[in-house]
Amino acid sequence: MEIQTHFSLKKFNTFGIEASAKQFVAVQNVLELKTILIENNTEKKFILGGGSNMLLTKDIDALVIHIDLKGKKVISENEDFVWVESQAGENWHEFVLWTIENDFGGLENMSLIPGNVGTTPVQNIGAYGAEIKDTFISCEAIRIDNQNIKTFTNSECHFGYRESIFKNEVKDQYIITSVVFKLTKRNHIINISYGDISGELAKANIINPTIIDVSNAVIAIRQSKLPDPKELGNSGSFFKNPILLKTDFEKIHQKFPEMKYFEISPTEVKVPAGWLIEQAGFKGKRFGDAGIHKNQALVLVNYGNATGQEILNISKNIQETIFKTYGIQIEAEVNVI
Ligand code: EPU
Repeated sequence: MEIQTHFSLKKFNTFGIEASAKQFVAVQNVLELKTILIENNTEKKFILGGGSNMLLTKDIDALVIHIDLKGKKVISENEDFVWVESQAGENWHEFVLWTIENDFGGLENMSLIPGNVGTTPVQNIGAYGAEIKDTFISCEAIRIDNQNIKTFTNSECHFGYRESIFKNEVKDQYIITSVVFKLTKRNHIINISYGDISGELAKANIINPTIIDVSNAVIAIRQSKLPDPKELGNSGSFFKNPILLKTDFEKIHQKFPEMKYFEISPTEVKVPAGWLIEQAGFKGKRFGDAGIHKNQALVLVNYGNATGQEILNISKNIQETIFKTYGIQIEAEVNVI
């Protein structure tokens, strides 16, 4: 466990932005993590997982602790269910593939999401009709200031759409070290109601899909719309889909009857930010090395040497244009550092 100085973070953020850390250390188990926290009690610290949900706009003047804890295992099971535990540093997609290879159901709709397992509860990741909160049982976390270990149950996490206690009440207080999910061993609940999945399965003439079929369909859809961070720097959806009160939305909808929306409760609707951004003419636009992806307007991309500030400027331009045009405020999903 070696602390390095002036360390480049380019390979540690999926946007591929060049920024450096004053100090950097990777920890491989909880004991190492505890030791680093104790020995550097007074240092400013920055916790880095898979780097898939952040935009670096400046160098980090702190000790960056990269959570590289590995391991996944079954911790309990009965005839119908299995409880699996993954350490925080496991790559999410590799973990999902491992559950599918073992015929454990529940995570297949969230195949190919970038990032590590430990950060999935922070923003309650979700895709194609599933969210982490549907299978999440608990996570273990270490408190940064006193190194106490705490287990957060599902209800204690206060999950919402891309929200949790870790982004709000206990923001920056804990480091998640492992997560437990409850998955099905049989009678898998196949969820293909989200738009494109059933179409993708029909293309392959699959009538009774297994969890492998669903995972493959999700992978195919994601690959057709979302850029692979290894080839084109990005952080997935840059913005959240805005949630509006139905009463406010109705006034906007009268002016823009073609606007897409989804009812999410009797009083609220969600408007796809990708649609708003596309209508505002940003989709596929490039400004220097920064741009808006050609197949999914929610995704901002780095063509090579964009700075975080350049990406941030595009995001602000988009936010202002959407607000001026539609009176709708769209919020970043990505953490801007
Ligand atoms: N749309 C457009 N233009 C675009 C993109 C989308 O008009 O450029 C429209 C689509 O036609 C569709 C609607 O917007 O009617 C929704 O599009 P899509 O199904 O692609 O999903 P999304 O709402 O844009 C969300 C998640 C994605 C997730 C997909 C699929 C958020 C912020 N994003 O995107 O998550 O993969 O649903 O479930 O909720 C991520 O968080 O990084 C991410 C990629």
